[in-house]
Amino acid sequence: MSKFYVTTPIYYVNGAPHLGHAYTTILADAMARYHRLKGDDVFFLTGTDEHGLKIQRAAEKLGITPQQMVDENSAKFRELFDRLELTHDRFIRTTEDDHRRTVEEMIDRMAASGDIYLGEYAGWYSASDEAYYDESEIEDGRAIASGSEVEWVEEQSYFFKLSKYEDQLLEWYDEAPDHVAPDSRRNEVKAFVESGLRDLSITRTTFSWGIPMPDEPEHVLYVWVDALTNYITAIGAFDDPERFEKYWPADIHVIGKDILRFHAVYWPAFLMSAGLPLPRQVFAHGWWTVEGEKMSKSKGNFIDAFELADAYELDVLRYYMIREIPFGNDGNFSKERLVERNNAELADNIGNLVNRTLSMSMGFIDGEVPATTDELKESIDIELRDQAIETRDGVDAAMKDRQPHRALELITSLSSETNNYVQTVQPWALNKKGETQRLEETLYNSLEAIRFIAVLLSAFVPDAAGRILDGLGIDDELKTIDSLDEWGRLPAGTKVEKPDVLFAKLDPPTDDDESDEPDESPAEDAQEADEEGANLISFDEFLNVEMRVGKVVAAEAVEGADKLLKLSVDVGEDTPRTVVAGIAQTFAPDDIIDWRVTMVTNLEPAKLFGIESQAMLLAAKKSDDTFALARFDDDVEPGTAVS
Ligand code: MSP
Repeated sequence: MSKFYVTTPIYYVNGAPHLGHAYTTILADAMARYHRLKGDDVFFLTGTDEHGLKIQRAAEKLGITPQQMVDENSAKFRELFDRLELTHDRFIRTTEDDHRRTVEEMIDRMAASGDIYLGEYAGWYSASDEAYYDESEIEDGRAIASGSEVEWVEEQSYFFKLSKYEDQLLEWYDEAPDHVAPDSRRNEVKAFVESGLRDLSITRTTFSWGIPMPDEPEHVLYVWVDALTNYITAIGAFDDPERFEKYWPADIHVIGKDILRFHAVYWPAFLMSAGLPLPRQVFAHGWWTVEGEKMSKSKGNFIDAFELADAYELDVLRYYMIREIPFGNDGNFSKERLVERNNAELADNIGNLVNRTLSMSMGFIDGEVPATTDELKESIDIELRDQAIETRDGVDAAMKDRQPHRALELITSLSSETNNYVQTVQPWALNKKGETQRLEETLYNSLEAIRFIAVLLSAFVPDAAGRILDGLGIDDELKTIDSLDEWGRLPAGTKVEKPDVLFAKLDPPTDDDESDEPDESPAEDAQEADEEGANLISFDEFLNVEMRVGKVVAAEAVEGADKLLKLSVDVGEDTPRTVVAGIAQTFAPDDIIDWRVTMVTNLEPAKLFGIESQAMLLAAKKSDDTFALARFDDDVEPGTAVS
């Protein structure tokens, strides 16, 4: 069994969780779920970064102790992640005891390697970034990279011999190109290291909120030495060697591009110094802007993560975030795009496929998966199977390449292809013609394709995927990636059931919506979506309406009713049907003789002015109250089905 260890950054607790925090954690969650689906032994870590000057100052501002502040705010992150139904195995806090012990041991090991010495630091520091900057990285009192304010710092400090690891770091970047990804980030980091590394100040004496340097209590450890170590604390680095051996090195540290240097330069150097293996990959994703602008409280376009979770179904949010930006790129959060993707890709594509296929299965084959005979013979069936298998492989490759957006793209295109398959094989027509064997084959293939789609979707939209798989009525062993090893594992005889609306359509945002915040009234939104769902009819219901081409063979006025015409319409039967239609003020009887029109032919007969009307004519009423008939300009045979 392979193992998979995935981490998110641990979040600063000086403020409320926002869109960016939700994004990183959702992406890591999708990876963790995908690997569990593959049967891997997964450890998924997230948590909060609670020490440092920035936190101490934020608490001072609020007039509370740092401990009070971190307890309160860390709880918010934990609550958010529960609300988002994330599947982390540990939520770590850097104020926990095992973490302090691990950090102390790291420092002891780094010291034992001769990498720590006492010196004097004089330079620029940004509390907001918790980062030291060179003169060349500063402009007008701010760090160029982040725009954060810097302050001049001069104090006694312990240093870590970062410069000693320059060559080893460069070797690590070259050893496997995906150690630091995407490529652009790797190049950025390489250039930074090639330009020469200076030793790193790793303690401060001017504030106290942190882990003290072992045996030097007036020195507090630099928050990044403390924070980065969380990745090994969580899996028992120095107190549970068996667990540590099993999960370390991390398979991927998912981070944002702003904290690349800490993860791709400092962290591997600390690990080298402590004699520990390096992570398999540091992957830096991009940043979200909101409706085109950088997200910030002062701009008023700050998206609070709880509001986001209230405004949208979790599946929809996850799908949008993962699908919208190629992992690694920056992207723009737009409600309009979210609604577009939901409506087109989730509701109209995947939702529609599941809905129509399960409705037909219930209507035509008693909701029971049919037994199919041996090999697929029809080329259209073979193509569908091949595409399902290719999609499974493509999704796996995309996940290995850290392209979860691509995985979703492949799954939605399998769904489109399956919709096309259904459209082409027309199970409803096979049903009507009584071609039972072919009907069963085509429904079996559609259901099996849906099983492939739902299994693959489970990591990304877990709730909807779970409901689809429940609808297919299959056992857990058929819900894994392994169970996609071959086509046709969906067992005959299984009872299927149509799930409730999987993805409700959403209304596009209107001008009244505040463009910088998620929808104000989530409850109303949900209600609207529900109503919309209730207005939809299933494909099956649509099929209940029988429509045929009718040729008008005779027409006359109805005495006493100046709006009605009595028609004789040939709908392909032995005798024409009598139809009473309210179109006399638009058409004279002679106007419409020989017209081929659309007739509903399975409506209960109705009596109008004593005449039994045996079918209904379809027409559109225009704004001037005249009618346009739904007619064919082709001389199509009377009685031909309209669908
Ligand atoms: N505490 C450090 C990380 C320590 S890891 C050992 C930290 N915390 S943070 O709360 O400021 O940021 C956490 C993550 O959120 C970072 O990966 C950052 O890139 C990400 N994001 C913050 N704003 C973001 C967006 N607007 N968009 C996407 N991600 C963003 O840094």
